[in-house]
Amino acid sequence: MVAYRSRRLCFLVTLFYLATTQAVILEKTFNDTVALVATLQQRIAELQSNLGDLAKQTQLQQLEVEERVRSEGNSGIKQVRYVAHGTSSYFDYTHANLGVAAIHDHTNYHDTLGMGEVIVVINGVEFRTRHNDYRLVQPDTSTRTFRAVKDIIPPPVPPQVSSKPTVALQILEMREWFKAFKTQNITHRDYRPYFQPVICYMEGFWSLEQNIMEPFKSDRHALFASSWKQLQEQIFYTSYTGTKDLLENMAYLPTTIVSVNSITGKPVYAQWNYRILCNPIDVEVPLKYFRVQDDLASRTRLRQSYQNVNNTRAGRFRLSEYDYERVTGFTLLDRIMQDIPGLDNNPSMLNEVAFGMGVYNTAFNNFTKLNTGYYHRSYKTGTANAMGLSMVDRGFSDEMLFVAENTQPQIPAFDFTICVFRGPCTTRSSRFSYAIPLEIVYMTPLLTWNPYNLAIYPDFKTPPANGRTGSTTDVTKAFNGSSPIAYYYLTPKEFYSSTTGQPDPADTAIATVGVLDKTGVIRNVTASGVQIFTLPIAGLGTVRLRYPIPPIHGEGSTVWKDLAIVKNTIRVMQGAGSAGVPAYQMQLYPATVGGLHSHDFTVFKQDYDLIMNGETVSVSTSLANGHQHNLELWKNPGTNVLEYKTCDYQNVCFDQHPKNIKLVSSPGR
Ligand SMILES: *[C@@H]1O[C@H](CO)[C@@H](O)[C@H](O)[C@H]1NC(C)=O
Ligand SMILES: *[C@@H]1O[C@H](CO)[C@@H](O)[C@H](O)[C@H]1NC(C)=O
Ligand SMILES: *[C@@H]1O[C@H](CO)[C@@H](O)[C@H](O)[C@H]1NC(C)=O
Ligand SMILES: *[C@@H]1O[C@H](CO)[C@@H](O)[C@H](O)[C@H]1NC(C)=O
Ligand SMILES: *[C@@H]1O[C@H](CO)[C@@H](O)[C@H](O)[C@H]1NC(C)=O
Ligand SMILES: *[C@@H]1O[C@H](CO)[C@@H](O)[C@H](O)[C@H]1NC(C)=O
Repeated sequence: MVAYRSRRLCFLVTLFYLATTQAVILEKTFNDTVALVATLQQRIAELQSNLGDLAKQTQLQQLEVEERVRSEGNSGIKQVRYVAHGTSSYFDYTHANLGVAAIHDHTNYHDTLGMGEVIVVINGVEFRTRHNDYRLVQPDTSTRTFRAVKDIIPPPVPPQVSSKPTVALQILEMREWFKAFKTQNITHRDYRPYFQPVICYMEGFWSLEQNIMEPFKSDRHALFASSWKQLQEQIFYTSYTGTKDLLENMAYLPTTIVSVNSITGKPVYAQWNYRILCNPIDVEVPLKYFRVQDDLASRTRLRQSYQNVNNTRAGRFRLSEYDYERVTGFTLLDRIMQDIPGLDNNPSMLNEVAFGMGVYNTAFNNFTKLNTGYYHRSYKTGTANAMGLSMVDRGFSDEMLFVAENTQPQIPAFDFTICVFRGPCTTRSSRFSYAIPLEIVYMTPLLTWNPYNLAIYPDFKTPPANGRTGSTTDVTKAFNGSSPIAYYYLTPKEFYSSTTGQPDPADTAIATVGVLDKTGVIRNVTASGVQIFTLPIAGLGTVRLRYPIPPIHGEGSTVWKDLAIVKNTIRVMQGAGSAGVPAYQMQLYPATVGGLHSHDFTVFKQDYDLIMNGETVSVSTSLANGHQHNLELWKNPGTNVLEYKTCDYQNVCFDQHPKNIKLVSSPGR
């Protein structure tokens, strides 16, 4: 028992000894750990601070790039994609190819406006769009939901047209309305409620959204990538190799650091995004307000005179209610843009306070507060008694930069603290988006006129089901009704005509398809969506419906401003109207395979003469529907008609463009 006790004591002593030694070791380890933690904490703090500084520097570098771009030009279109070269640099595309900003037609879609890929600068941010092809949609003013849009309602058909008992009489009456619009004669027919202008604009903004957001809806194009990272990889690849996605569904949209957490050093990233929307215009916009801009390079390339370039897609305009040159203040364009809401869709009275002072509407001569939730490019500021009002233009030197405030949490906020002299300080958080005007488009009754009462299926698979190709003669091959998407054929073929001579009857006939009406009868109809120029109408010719008014990035540079004067002076000296080398504008007749489309091209007089002398000349057409054609032109010795001899080295183009060639304009017209 004793032995056991002493053994137990011995054990306890040993245990105690071990424990104390262990405690000393433990204490030392603990002391070391404490020291290590302290060192590490200091290192982490240093790293966080360095990371924060680096992120801040990256942010400043992005700002520096933007500032540099801002000083080089305006917000505006910079360049379209190239597909042509020449013996002089002006054969290369600028902000126009055959159309300003690469605009084109997709008339077989009920509300699609064709517009290709462009490089754009908006408020110093340079980016590259996908193939745009945008729709007639506007901000949904019934909700503040971010990105909510609604379709723009097209104008009705004048009752004087729809009440006519036969289609033939409706056609005759409808022509009178187009005549009234083209000649701007409201005595003839008061066309104004039926030819409604809308403004289409490009909006750009930084966004905190994590997932890739389709910039805007198109019936024809969508971004190829499903994440921002994927889009970035694709762009790295195309930039590195110079290749392109044939479907033109990639965009280069930069990212930026909008803020850096001062404690954690963690940056907050934002993604640039853009969209194209339209907005109805509730004031009259007479056609004479569109002033032709002299884009010398593109019209020389297209061999168009200054006088006639407005009758081509390359015509670019400025909206101006003045018919003489002058400095302007608040203009019709400001008035139209001020109706467009920013990202709040339906902003409450947002009245940005600029540096502690009120912001007032330049439309008025008094202290009317400006709702900064709508797009504007200038404001008045000041205090009522102290200094009066002074005008401020948004941007340091950016003529066409329209801005609007919003309250959307998806948009990064910038805080600004302002202290009243000897008074309290207030911090205001601001969120902004930017816009530039793109074009003014007149919606016409053709968008809804359906005199044959054809069925319109929402599903674009119904019209061509069972191998239907739109035959005008074979009941089993005529389209089964129409569809807003890709098969929007409602307009009677006879509405367009060429009794006036110029373009020949084949013109509309080939753009004509056969559609079965509700009783199974084939109706010969043409596409009814938006057109830049209508097909020729009897006694009227074509009618222009899309007026591009985009600002051009280069216009903001001093060189461009000087050049504009030189161009004007030379034009005046020469007598307006002189063009360079004469040339013919030509077009392939539309093909319906893979969607209705046609291609344009230019043939210089020398080449034209060669063709007429029996030679064969090669040309490349414009890009449409994701492809272009290489043609060999000749005068078919059998028929003496100008035709393509080969198309992409085949006898007939893969998409079945008819062989004879449409002459759009001859030199001297
Ligand atoms: C542990 O740190 C304490 C306080 O700094 C000190 O008193 C003690 O002697 C240290 N112990 C060892 C084993 O270093
Ligand atoms: C306008 O239309 C009316 C009615 O058709 C016609 O009498 C008048 O001559 C037209 N005015 C012009 C300027 O063409
Ligand atoms: C534009 O087109 C119209 C009619 O086609 C023409 O009368 C006018 O002179 C053209 N040119 C300019 C520079 O406005
Ligand atoms: C400013 O002028 C407009 C138009 O003249 C008027 O409707 C408005 O009431 C005026 N507002 C103020 C604050 O005086
Ligand atoms: C439709 O056009 C075809 C020729 O393209 C013609 O044969 C046919 O008679 C036309 N149908 C009607 C109803 O006009
Ligand atoms: C056309 O499509 C409708 C809807 O799918 C169908 O009911 C009808 O039978 C079709 N008509 C013909 C002639 O195929």
